Amino acid sequence: MSAEKTNQSWGGRFSEPVDAFVARFTASVDFDKRLYRHDIMGSIAHATMLEQAGVLTAAERDAIIDGLQQIQSEIEAGQFDWRVDLEDVHMNIEARLTDRIGITGKKLHTGRSRNDQVATDIRLWLRDEIDVILAEITRLQEGLLAQAEQHAEVIMPGFTHLQTAQPVTFGHHLLAWFEMLSRDHERLVDCRRRVNRMPLGSAALAGTTYPIQREITCRLLGFEAVGGNSLDGVSDRDFAIEFCAAASLAMMHLSRFSEELVLWTSAQFNFIELPDRFCTGSSIMPQKKNPDVPELVRGKSGRVFGALAGLLTLMKGQPLAYNKDNQEDKEPLFDAADTLRDSLRAFADMVPAIKPRVEVMREAARRGFSTATDLADYLVRKGLPFRDCHEIVGHAVKYGVATGKDLAEMSLDELRQFSDQIGEDVFAVLTLEGSVNARDHIGGTAPTQVRAAVIRGKALLAER
Ligand code: ARG
Repeated sequence: MSAEKTNQSWGGRFSEPVDAFVARFTASVDFDKRLYRHDIMGSIAHATMLEQAGVLTAAERDAIIDGLQQIQSEIEAGQFDWRVDLEDVHMNIEARLTDRIGITGKKLHTGRSRNDQVATDIRLWLRDEIDVILAEITRLQEGLLAQAEQHAEVIMPGFTHLQTAQPVTFGHHLLAWFEMLSRDHERLVDCRRRVNRMPLGSAALAGTTYPIQREITCRLLGFEAVGGNSLDGVSDRDFAIEFCAAASLAMMHLSRFSEELVLWTSAQFNFIELPDRFCTGSSIMPQKKNPDVPELVRGKSGRVFGALAGLLTLMKGQPLAYNKDNQEDKEPLFDAADTLRDSLRAFADMVPAIKPRVEVMREAARRGFSTATDLADYLVRKGLPFRDCHEIVGHAVKYGVATGKDLAEMSLDELRQFSDQIGEDVFAVLTLEGSVNARDHIGGTAPTQVRAAVIRGKALLAER
């Protein structure tokens, strides 16, 4: 049987065409066509290097580059005919190049394999995705800083076990999310360094006999370094797993953030208002306004965790070097990147529009004996041991529950039933302002500390 009737890229060795279902089953073009831009970028760098290495003539290089650029335009104009029988993005583009420029097109693959080609493409693609994601994290953080600055003095209850614990400032609470996102940003920046190493030149697995100059392609493609081992270069997908791990942590943070927004928009909390454009209604219950964006982001975190588990499982136990298993790396990776980017985008758009219901938050902080620790600390300053103070305040709270009074609403005589150390000056510490202002150290909830943290945050973002 002639080579034409089998796949043109390896027809020589085969005596019957691939089964039609197997062709579809093994093809990746439906999803990896998304890599076309990076595939062409890699090929242009490879052809440029091959000319400098004396493998291609200048005319051949120019014909290849010109052909690839025209193919890119065809793809972007929606005029490219993606063929499943050509399996993947790489062979589709290469075949089209040969259609367009003839025999010279067949020289592009000299000294290269799809194994190093695909590993290069994914890294180039992921590098760009990380940059977009980093920018979205920064945009979300800017929104948090602006809100924190504006609401540095707004008081809300802080919770442990979702029970009222101590008063905190809303700005301080917002800055907790800022901190989480700073670490997410750091992790992705660090991950990007390891994504940004070049497998191109590994060829199929062992390197190539052509006098390739990998430093040239490395420089042309903006990689930070050339991968040091060809077997490793074509096979490992640890960089994709690492990205999914960092993305999972970021989504985990967004899911916590989401959960709080969902709680806070409920009628029971009623702490914040989300603008209508981030919510939807119910088709049956006219009164409903549902916090869909945070709910969906909370749910979408599962997809990204799934991608991480999937890729770890994909890589586990794979012998060196490239195995077809690795074709399965793309869909979870693409989905994880899309999900994280879109979730961040939705949050970055939404956060500046959150409106705290200042009075409701304050009232909630006032209830629930949130200044009980302040009373205990007050008694410590009067010279009592902390454990005794804890006990004394416990009695006062019990009395408050029975009489329906918060600590600040009790008279001095009432308070003195529990300790004669309590004096007129106690009321300053029992107020919400007294409580938050007293926590006046780096990382504390006092409004002055929130403002200082906003300044530090702005400086951090300015350095990026
Ligand atoms: N489509 C393949 C992938 O995504 C490209 C590499 C194929 N290499 C091979 N030897 N079959 O991994």
